[in-house]
Amino acid sequence: MARKFRILDSPGVFCVFGSASDTRPYSAGDPCYYKAFEHQERFHHAGAKYRLFGGAAGPGKTKALLWEAIRQAQKVPRSDSLLLRRTYPELESSLLAYFRRDVPRSMYRRYNEAKHIVTWLNGSTTRFGYCRNENDVYQYQGAEFLFIGLDELTHFTLKQWQFLTSRNRCPVPKSFACMAGASNPGNIGHAWVKALWVDHSPPPGYERPELYDGRDYDFIRAKLADNPIYANDAAYHRTLEALPEHLRRAFLDGDWNVFAGQYFDVFEFGRHTVRAEALRLEPWWPRWISIDWGFQHPSAVYWHCAVPAPAQSAGPQDDNASVLSTRIVTYREFVQSGLSPRMLAQGIAERSGRERISDVFLSPDAFAHRTSEASIAEQLGEVLAATGLPRPAPADDDRIGGWQLTYQLLESDAWLITENCAKLIDCLPQLVRDDRRVEDIRKVDGDDPADAARYGLVSGGRLAGVGAALSRFGGDAPLRAGQPPPLYSPGAPRFITGMPLGEQIARQISATDPTSRAIHSQRLESEARKQFRPKPLSRCRAAAASQGVEVESLIQVLTRSFAVLGLENVTPKDADDIIEFMREYLHHVYLMPAKLAARKAAPALAAPATGKP
Ligand SMILES: Nc1ncnc2c1ncn2[C@@H]1O[C@H](COP(=O)(O)OP(=O)(O)O)[C@@H](O)[C@H]1O
Ligand SMILES: [Mg+2]
Repeated sequence: MARKFRILDSPGVFCVFGSASDTRPYSAGDPCYYKAFEHQERFHHAGAKYRLFGGAAGPGKTKALLWEAIRQAQKVPRSDSLLLRRTYPELESSLLAYFRRDVPRSMYRRYNEAKHIVTWLNGSTTRFGYCRNENDVYQYQGAEFLFIGLDELTHFTLKQWQFLTSRNRCPVPKSFACMAGASNPGNIGHAWVKALWVDHSPPPGYERPELYDGRDYDFIRAKLADNPIYANDAAYHRTLEALPEHLRRAFLDGDWNVFAGQYFDVFEFGRHTVRAEALRLEPWWPRWISIDWGFQHPSAVYWHCAVPAPAQSAGPQDDNASVLSTRIVTYREFVQSGLSPRMLAQGIAERSGRERISDVFLSPDAFAHRTSEASIAEQLGEVLAATGLPRPAPADDDRIGGWQLTYQLLESDAWLITENCAKLIDCLPQLVRDDRRVEDIRKVDGDDPADAARYGLVSGGRLAGVGAALSRFGGDAPLRAGQPPPLYSPGAPRFITGMPLGEQIARQISATDPTSRAIHSQRLESEARKQFRPKPLSRCRAAAASQGVEVESLIQVLTRSFAVLGLENVTPKDADDIIEFMREYLHHVYLMPAKLAARKAAPALAAPATGKP
């Protein structure tokens, strides 16, 4: 078969072009299929066994990886090569899209659409694949590849990489089997990729670290400015310049140090994510919503469901089994900026449909901020209540404890996110530790999805008993290096909003001797008192309270109920605390709407005197 293309491949140049003749060198009239830019050429000709083309967004990493596979396939006839992305949609929109767009039909014999395998004119093949789940790499168990290229390498795990290295060999004599990755900094694999190529040291979890040889790893760093196509694209530059500082350093300059302290290093696509269709959420399972309010910044809203997981290793004697085998599934996302509280509530109601939502947890600052006479929480609550949803309750905003719980839920596979929650899945791997408060996560633009999800996990997880299970049992487990400490240390029980005090004492205080039990109980009780201490009523609330007959009578009913029921676990002090709490709550629920209604009905009374006739 006549050759339809020519390759110039020598130090300083890598170029593939169509040529009518086998003898004539490349001339300006020939179609050029690929001409490596300078930094791409350095990548193609770097000699190490494992190359990383790493750096900013847009210098041409994906394109170079595709042409590197073609280059290898052409060098060794009848060899096989493999190009991978983590998920199929990503593969479609990157490597496969470039293959269809840039590689002329005359360069290959056939392309199997179903298997995504190209057969080149010399009998070599290149397979396009993806490894969504951790174990998907084992589909290549029986195969051998002269070249394996992983696009967006930091989306993969070290285990996947190490397994693939075992498939990287070629029986053709004198061939040199090699692998390459192309990647931006950041994401779940940031730490191990940086260790191998940037820091030149075996990362934690690396099998047989004594065999690591830094000379096998070449790092070719690329900046956006290296791609002449984008070098003068002011609009693209502006987009990148507008990113938060750490992302800008990563995407514009390819700086690998910005993500040094990635917080959720346990997060894995495939392990912690699931296709929504693959789950069946029963209507009777508890569901709740969490909201991080924002106007200029987006508001982020998540829907969660407590799902009984199939019984795991816990035996029938294990009384922890039921709590530990509950998982939280975050199954819907709504992230948008510029919505008024009422519009946001409307959007939430529309998306909730007929689902039975037990609670709505809202960022606490929304209870203080006012855009009109009512707080954001009140405005949201009005619309939510009108559509049959609960009014929002303030979410627990203990950041450090919340991040630790989130970490533990991920680590113990107790939190799953459906893939339609794309912003949350993008955001989690990018969060880094705060230099000044290392237990906290650095606040950055774009972290709203994580904040909202945290509210849902902490406040909602308590209702579902998921967080409590972890804090109680995780506290006794020895800590591993680099792992955040448990949410509640065994010595310091913590008050949990929304859970009866008696239950909290039962759950959190494991000491058996009466003295330490008493000390712990007292500590919990005093924390509870702090939580329930009635806040002084604001002036307008105090005015509204004067109409609070209904509230008072409700409180009396409640007080009597306690007396009549004589609940053994409820000490008089507990009862007082609960009543105070109910008083606050009822004021909020009954009096505010009553006050607003009264205002609407009698505007003349509510309007301030103007002094004008
Ligand atoms: N050598 C090249 N010649 C022409 N266009 C290129 C070349 N390298 C990259 N490009 C184009 O630049 C854009 C960005 O390249 P891409 O490989 O997607 O970058 P990255 O993967 O680094 O984000 C794509 O449109 C690609 O086709
Ligand atoms: Mg790319």
